[in-house]
Amino acid sequence: MIKVAMIGFGGIAQAHRYAYWHFNKAGLPVQLIAACDADPEKFKTVTKINIPLRGEIQNELPFTAYSDWREMLEKEKPDLVDICLPTRFHKSVAIEALKLGFHVMCEKPMAESYADCVEMVATAKEAGRHLMIAQCVRFQPEYEYLQKAVSEELYGPLKTSEFYRYSPIPTWSKDKWQVNAGKTGSCLTELNIHDMDVVQAIFGLPEQISCEMQSNVYPYDFADSKFVYPTHTVSIKSAWYDETHVFSAGYRVEFEKGVLEHKNGQVFFTDRAGHTQTIEVEDADGIMGEIRYLVKMLDAQSDNYRNPPEHSAQTIYSLEKCYESADAGGVLLRYGEAL
Ligand SMILES: NC(=O)c1ccc[n+]([C@@H]2O[C@H](COP(=O)([O-])OP(=O)(O)OC[C@H]3O[C@@H](n4cnc5c(N)ncnc54)[C@H](O)[C@@H]3O)[C@@H](O)[C@H]2O)c1
Repeated sequence: MIKVAMIGFGGIAQAHRYAYWHFNKAGLPVQLIAACDADPEKFKTVTKINIPLRGEIQNELPFTAYSDWREMLEKEKPDLVDICLPTRFHKSVAIEALKLGFHVMCEKPMAESYADCVEMVATAKEAGRHLMIAQCVRFQPEYEYLQKAVSEELYGPLKTSEFYRYSPIPTWSKDKWQVNAGKTGSCLTELNIHDMDVVQAIFGLPEQISCEMQSNVYPYDFADSKFVYPTHTVSIKSAWYDETHVFSAGYRVEFEKGVLEHKNGQVFFTDRAGHTQTIEVEDADGIMGEIRYLVKMLDAQSDNYRNPPEHSAQTIYSLEKCYESADAGGVLLRYGEAL
């Protein structure tokens, strides 16, 4: 049984908690044994965020609640530490947990800088422990299908592609750290990064990058990044709107034989003659997918070939390039050397 202890029990932690409960019930060897949050109120209610939970949180598998994560790790000695803290804590807590000998899953974005990510990767290697960043879109069935369509050339060669992610502004955190962190908490860092990561997983590292950002209603609430490859360019748009907005994310990828679209939670292929076919994909989300993958990987003691931390570090490298471009008015930059 893989024993899990979570650090940070706010918004996204509830989706992780649901996944551990669900997979335990489904017979996977995993159990949430403890969770820690500096705010004891977080254990009394289920914090709601911009994306709905897959199902009702059930309390039939109780875990021990802590307010001090060092005390929790010392007493509980879990196999896996799952970090759902605000981004500014990711590096220091992940490094300490790895050095103590625990496997670590840490929410995205991996850290505040590429240099910090490199340190985290090196620490995991030295400790001989797994470090996986929760880049959940890689594990979302709609994007897994796109990856298959591209790698197997199901619809012929690729021509153009657009990705988008629009969300209500995050307001569930007490200090609203996502909005108040300035650029490092912007919609580029919080939203666009999901698509940057999956774009790199599907198409590889770009040759050039550019990004334009705007502050319309909230600071840095719109981002438009471009990843330039030898034969095509990927456009990624993301925005934060007011609290009444309904979250949406998707893609539109044009192949020689037609257009593959992910919208309203479904995937469609429309051929050149205008015939549209719905593509059946698994009814699951990326957080469920990444946690199932990690549990199976730890149980089988196998390698993390789908989402190694080096890839997440590369995504932070791309994020830094996007800020560099946006600061210079959206100029196109050469990608340079990442990990
Ligand atoms: N994968 C996704 O789709 C997704 C969605 C939302 C957020 N995130 C990421 O998840 C991370 C957490 O975001 P969130 O929205 O859940 O934030 P949040 O503010 O809702 O939750 C963070 C929690 O950490 C607690 N905390 C802060 N310092 C602590 C400490 N020292 N010890 C113990 N607890 C402490 C806070 O009390 C809070 O409950 C961020 O990095 C964010 O970018 C990912």
